[in-house]
Amino acid sequence: MNRATHLLATDLDGTLVGDRNSLKKLLDFYNAQTYTVSLIYITGRHYQSALSLMTEQNLPVPHVLITDVGTGIYIGDSLKPDLEWSAFLEKSWMPQQIDAIARVIPGLVSQNLPITTRCSYFASDLAIVEAFRSQLNKAGIPHKLIYSGGRDVDILPSGSGKGQALQYILDKYKLNTAKLLVAGDSGNDVEMLTLGFPSVIVGNAQPELLKQTEHPSIYRAKQEFAGGIHEAWRYFYTD
Ligand code: GLC
Ligand code: MG
Repeated sequence: MNRATHLLATDLDGTLVGDRNSLKKLLDFYNAQTYTVSLIYITGRHYQSALSLMTEQNLPVPHVLITDVGTGIYIGDSLKPDLEWSAFLEKSWMPQQIDAIARVIPGLVSQNLPITTRCSYFASDLAIVEAFRSQLNKAGIPHKLIYSGGRDVDILPSGSGKGQALQYILDKYKLNTAKLLVAGDSGNDVEMLTLGFPSVIVGNAQPELLKQTEHPSIYRAKQEFAGGIHEAWRYFYTD
């Protein structure tokens, strides 16, 4: 990983995954290059769910797998958990207290995940999310709240999230000079897309991303899913 020269850090659902034909074209394109593109997958899914998707879609095993909206990190072919990252996040994490508050917010429905390293819910209305946010703040619970796709509410340990997890990996493996493209399609991708690295919002992105302010490092692809990644790769890195 330390010697990677080219990196694709991409969300899975709705970004790398969603159109099999363009996914195949992108992977064939990468295989045809003289350089190797190291893959970092950054997904909202929990670990088992991410593995199922990788199997179902026949995705290459990534060099780094970041799960649970940036709260889980797995490294190398054997996907070894990064314990330094989990220990850092545990320090100020209060899942029971978060769940207790969530239970009394009308309209907030638990996702019933098999993990407690993040707390995730469904909410169909921004007012519900704002009520939750204000109760968490009132109780002084350290957290990061992310609302995506008009449906998913993720409460994460502070210091985590897709952007901070990606930056942690870039720092840890001294990858800041590699040619990097960051790709996403929804609200939980905003932080990684706005780190300042070449980034792409794919053509099928959710409304919350489409209204993201213009920035020279963010390319808005016309193509959807992996086709958008391919379009942006050529835009940034054809030399
Ligand atoms: C994925 C996860 C879900 C999460 C959402 C948004 O869909 O499965 O738990 O809330 O991403 O981050
Ligand atoms: Mg997505």
